[in-house]
Amino acid sequence: MADQFDLTVIGSGPGGYVCAIRAAQLGMKVAVVEKMPTFGGTCLNIGCIPSKALLHASELFEEAGHNFSHLGIDIPPPQLNLAQMMTHKDETVAANVNGVSFLFKKNKITPFTGTGSIAGPGKVKVALAGGGEQVIESKHVVIATGSVPATLPGIDIDEERVVTSTGALALGTVPERLLVIGAGVIGLELGSVWARLGSKVTVVEFLDRILPGMDSEVARQFQRILQKQGMEFRLSSKVKSIDKQDDGSLTVRIEPAQGGDMQIIDADVALVAIGRKPYTQALGLETVGIVLDERGRVPVSPAYGTTAENVYAIGDVIVGPMLAHKAEDEGIAVAEIIAGQHGHVNYGAMPSVVYTNPEIASVGKTEDELKAAGIDYKVGKFPFTANGRAKAQLATQGFVKILADVATDRVLGAHIVGKNASEMIEALTVLMEFSGSAEDLARTTAAHPTLSEAIREAALMCGDGAIHI
Ligand code: FAD
Ligand code: NAI
Repeated sequence: MADQFDLTVIGSGPGGYVCAIRAAQLGMKVAVVEKMPTFGGTCLNIGCIPSKALLHASELFEEAGHNFSHLGIDIPPPQLNLAQMMTHKDETVAANVNGVSFLFKKNKITPFTGTGSIAGPGKVKVALAGGGEQVIESKHVVIATGSVPATLPGIDIDEERVVTSTGALALGTVPERLLVIGAGVIGLELGSVWARLGSKVTVVEFLDRILPGMDSEVARQFQRILQKQGMEFRLSSKVKSIDKQDDGSLTVRIEPAQGGDMQIIDADVALVAIGRKPYTQALGLETVGIVLDERGRVPVSPAYGTTAENVYAIGDVIVGPMLAHKAEDEGIAVAEIIAGQHGHVNYGAMPSVVYTNPEIASVGKTEDELKAAGIDYKVGKFPFTANGRAKAQLATQGFVKILADVATDRVLGAHIVGKNASEMIEALTVLMEFSGSAEDLARTTAAHPTLSEAIREAALMCGDGAIHI
């Protein structure tokens, strides 16, 4: 007799594990199938969490080397102990993935370690990691199998010299020259880590700008900041080939995106960060008639249902931004929908952050999107150079930009370049969730002195004007 469950979730990333917990809280008998040895998916094991551990440690390393003397703290130049930095990263990952195991036990969720596939309506087959096979019977199935790095044809990833984000999070030595392919979120975050630790970083980007999709003014200013930090950009360029030399170096051939003369860049490590693709390998979708869309995603209805009855999908494997909190919110929503409630995700108020120094955080529409849609908007923009706390912290780079509707004053989007932008964006996300106006924000007290005062000043600039500029 097969095990019987109300819900089986395939994949234990932020989408899958959060869905499982919410479903268990709502009274369902839940199973989770995960092929990795630990829970938490890309985000906890090889994504958000380890990258933020290295970003934090490398930022402090750089601060200690550059800013301390200005603050009156005289210390000898800091020495890098990369092995210990990696231990900190590994311990952070372990603490987080163990936390998910604890939550599964607490919520009486049954985990299966192995590769899951759908084996017809109401059935999930698990190829157990320890050998053998098990069939689970389940009233509902949620596909939360996430994504994997996209690769370039003809470029062989060995995760040591030519790496994806996974290898870039575990290098044993600091490469003298790091070539990053792709000026997206991974390229700039992990490029920053290694640049701070001493690498000369060159970023090759196919488009004529960095961070496609972000507000273009933000991207332009941020590129200048990164260039000042020593990062070099080759925009409108593509990598044609990477040859591994016997002396350990790499010969990288790049050419203009539209074709033209080839150039050679020598590097020690190349990071391929050109996006991620949905992961549905050997998932048995054909057994229930699910056909992938043109980009390899599982098509879903607004209620996350697939074309197969009682089979749902969430997270990176479906349409939308590949973000952990988007996957989590969908996990909660789909569990509530399966339980007969009205789960809902507000994609219009979904923050997005690049955890560099300064950080970039945004929510809602970009100025480019508002222009393209012909919406009459006003801009309130306040620089951190005019913020007292920022001066005290040597964190005057960047600005807060608020975009509000001319007719209604409703905030349509907000973009922050600055220290702690990831934390500050929450105020604007909450405001947008409640359809708030720039005036609502301008009339809300901000503690003094805080970086958040810049948000209020930007909101004031959408009306009668800021005080400190
Ligand atoms: P995943 O986290 O990819 O989880 C899917 C899980 O399913 C995996 O554990 C996989 O092993 C398992 N699986 C797949 N197929 C099967 C199968 N057949 N059987 C059993 N198990 C299976 N997002 C942010 O919001 N903030 C960040 O700071 C951030 N940083 C990132 C840094 C890096 C380096 C990377 C690579 C990504 C980062 N992301 C970040 C993106 C984030 O990790 C993803 O959006 C998120 O993990 C998606 O969650 P998910 O649950 O859909 O899928
Ligand atoms: P991305 O989509 O952010 O950026 C990829 C970049 O590579 C783009 O600028 C693209 O134009 C460029 N590119 C594509 N093909 C190329 C080629 N052949 N040559 C040169 N450039 C090329 O993807 P990235 O950085 O790999 O990240 C994947 C996903 O992971 C992102 O979608 C993001 O949502 C998620 N992520 C989120 C983080 C966060 O929220 N802080 C951190 C890291 C990843």
